[in-house]
Amino acid sequence: MLNKKTVDDISVKGKRVLVRCDFNVPLQDGKITDENRLVAALPTINKLIQDGGKVILCSHLGKPKGEVKPELSLAPVAKRLSELLNKEVIFAADDNVVGDNAKKAIENMKDGDVVLLENTRFRPEETKNGEAFSKDLASIAEIFVNDAFGTAHRAHCSNVGVTEYVDEAVVGYLMKKEIEFLGNAVNNPERPFVAILGGAKVSDKINVINNLLEKVDTLIIGGGMAYTFLKAMGNDVGKSLLEEDKIEYAKEMIQKAEEKGVRFLLPIDHVVAQEFKNDTPIKIVPRGSIGSDWEGLDIGPKTRELYADALKDAKTVVWNGPMGVFEFENFAKGTIAVAEALANIDATTIIGGGDSAAAVNNLGFGDKMTHISTGGGASLEFLEGKELPGVAAANDK
Ligand code: 3PG
Repeated sequence: MLNKKTVDDISVKGKRVLVRCDFNVPLQDGKITDENRLVAALPTINKLIQDGGKVILCSHLGKPKGEVKPELSLAPVAKRLSELLNKEVIFAADDNVVGDNAKKAIENMKDGDVVLLENTRFRPEETKNGEAFSKDLASIAEIFVNDAFGTAHRAHCSNVGVTEYVDEAVVGYLMKKEIEFLGNAVNNPERPFVAILGGAKVSDKINVINNLLEKVDTLIIGGGMAYTFLKAMGNDVGKSLLEEDKIEYAKEMIQKAEEKGVRFLLPIDHVVAQEFKNDTPIKIVPRGSIGSDWEGLDIGPKTRELYADALKDAKTVVWNGPMGVFEFENFAKGTIAVAEALANIDATTIIGGGDSAAAVNNLGFGDKMTHISTGGGASLEFLEGKELPGVAAANDK
């Protein structure tokens, strides 16, 4: 259980409530192309509106590095949120985020109104957790609610610094849900507990692998990172992604799995190509036979079967990272097979954010999973066993 105060532990009637959300959503030509993070933020926002708070939302968007970048304005988010909430979200356009314009918008608020501040990363202090901006943010509210799970692995003004200067700092429903799902899966799993890790690089998942080997019954590896493990076992991997400097680490992890009695699964065949593009000739080859001019871009059909079989009896599954280059249709079969396997088992299935969440949603399996995290980096750090600063900063129960 999460030992932090939540929005259920506070009374917000007539009070100004600053809510940190993660509205860092992909934009194309000013249009939001994936609104999952907006939808996930609605329960907390609706609760605060209904309780008669003056709801002031804030978030970062992209990496403007302390400069005002109009293409990274949160204005499109205010527009879409208004539609989703069925209520006007007043956008406080303000290069200073908490400058005169924003203050005026807040002064005019009535109970139940919603204002969205401009991108917090337009202020250079934000990512340095600087005092001045933390105080500015705190000056416009009595209560702070952190519902930005996706940003919880950062210690910035708008999710950590600000908590020092407000009367009360609590977490929202999304934060609570994320921590409880991920926390239960990792620390109190119904067994068998299987983790599936994919994605391009071993180096992105070093501590995740190490930590999960302490917890799981089976660890399944796919994606680009598999080739470093296969190389460590003495297999030829051709032109496939390889992190030479992680081969030793891979050997250690294989040994650790053996010592812990964890079943450690790596691909037994591959879909290979000579060029990194969708329309290119492909071959299916067994482990160890990739050929010097070829690279593995997806797990092969026998591996798909092996992985689906390993998932059949699982009761808890955590998945982070695609099995191949799923953005290319010809190399998406491995990722689809794992998503399908998860959709068909009677287990708690938790999908890490970022690429795996996008894969599951884009491939149409979103509603078949128990929980899809809104945090990419944050869910990985959680799986590493790290304390997330954004969560730690909220008041204890
Ligand atoms: C994310 O998308 O992972 C979060 O919003 C954090 O963004 P950041 O990596 O730019 O800090």
